[in-house]
Amino acid sequence: MAKSFAVFLVLFLILRSQTVNTKTLEAFLKDLETYERSIKSNEEELNKLAIELNAGMESMDCTETDKAMDSRLLEMKNQLANSEYRWMNHILEIENKHKQQMATYKTVLDNKNVAIETFTKGLIDLKSKLQSQLSINADQLNKIQVKNNEIYQLKKQLDEMNALKRQSTINRQQLSDCQNKIFAIDKLKEQVPKVESQLKSSTPKALASSCSSANGIQLIQVEGAKAFHVLCKQSINGSSWIVIQKRNHLGVSFERNWNEYKTGFGRYQSEFFFGLEKIFFITFTKQYELYIELTDYDNYMFYAYYDFFRVGSNVDGYRLYLGNYRGNATDGMASSRNQKFTTTRNLCVIKPSGGWWFPPYSCNETNLNRGTSPVWSVNGSLRNMKAVSMMIRPKQSRH
Ligand SMILES: *[C@@H]1O[C@H](CO)[C@@H](O)[C@H](O)[C@H]1NC(C)=O
Ligand SMILES: *[C@@H]1O[C@H](CO)[C@@H](O)[C@H](O)[C@H]1NC(C)=O
Ligand SMILES: *[C@@H]1O[C@H](CO)[C@@H](O)[C@H](O)[C@H]1NC(C)=O
Ligand SMILES: *[C@@H]1O[C@H](CO)[C@@H](O)[C@H](O)[C@H]1NC(C)=O
Repeated sequence: MAKSFAVFLVLFLILRSQTVNTKTLEAFLKDLETYERSIKSNEEELNKLAIELNAGMESMDCTETDKAMDSRLLEMKNQLANSEYRWMNHILEIENKHKQQMATYKTVLDNKNVAIETFTKGLIDLKSKLQSQLSINADQLNKIQVKNNEIYQLKKQLDEMNALKRQSTINRQQLSDCQNKIFAIDKLKEQVPKVESQLKSSTPKALASSCSSANGIQLIQVEGAKAFHVLCKQSINGSSWIVIQKRNHLGVSFERNWNEYKTGFGRYQSEFFFGLEKIFFITFTKQYELYIELTDYDNYMFYAYYDFFRVGSNVDGYRLYLGNYRGNATDGMASSRNQKFTTTRNLCVIKPSGGWWFPPYSCNETNLNRGTSPVWSVNGSLRNMKAVSMMIRPKQSRH
């Protein structure tokens, strides 16, 4: 019986250690204790009965009949057997009960273990899956990086190829240009003897320094300056005139600053001022004469001629040097003789507009560049002009 107990105990301890339903286990252990106690008391009772039996047997005198003794002994044996049988049954009952409970617990435990195993297996599976996924991802990342690198390399190569292509196009273009040039040079070489003979037969023709007999726009070149276009006006007598100023109320503003008067402005086709710097260069090399044509609002035409005309350099303030007057107007530019060209005159109450060779402290003088209308001084009074032009040419010997 003690052996069965030990087996139970071990099983219970295993069960306990598995931490299956603690409350049920505790109740079970309590049952076991009760059971142990009842067994102990039973054993004690049996011992007592045995002692009593022995004592009875000793105290029996020989006079007692065998029958009585036998019946008492039998009774006691029966009692004992009954008791034993009862307890055995009881024990078997409890044993069975516990076996059943054990089986139940074991099933529960097994189920739990199976569940835990399944769960653990699931976890391991998941883990391995995740790990493989991670390694796949890392692998893919690596592959992407490799691809990116390949793409970068390819792009670089493409750029290089494009550059080479461009270079080769340029080279081809240059080559073709070179070939064309070589061809052109060869052609020119062929012409060299012809040109040489032509040169030998004729002296080189330089650009004219004045208008000569031309009419309209012509390219001239004077010493010390680049070639420039001038408007030429043919003359009945002598060489053409270079027009240096023209006005006819066609809308070109003459209210300009110093730099504009210096370089010139307007259009030959309508109105313009030629430019002081160019006038300086032209009149610096030779003796020039000036011819001014005036048309008033009554359509009367006048002319004013000066037998000498020169404009000084920029350093000289484009000063005006005038010769003697001749004409059927008046010596309207008399007050401008030896004056510097200015575009500002602050001493006048009414500031004259445009640029001119203004005399100092005198505000009502000839000004062919006046903004509103050109004016010519006639005997001390100013006359508005509808049209004006100023022309120069190298001084003619016959005048
Ligand atoms: C042209 O010149 C000649 C002399 O050289 C002169 O007699 C004549 O009047 C001039 N004509 C005009 C329109 O100026
Ligand atoms: C002034 O002289 C020019 C040229 O000789 C002539 O065309 C014009 O009619 C003259 N003007 C006057 C008002 O006499
Ligand atoms: C200018 O004045 C002078 C004399 O003072 C005269 O002879 C001439 O006719 C005048 N001219 C004009 C255009 O009025
Ligand atoms: C011009 O100014 C002078 C003095 O500087 C004066 O004598 C003359 O009358 C003025 N003429 C006009 C038209 O204003």
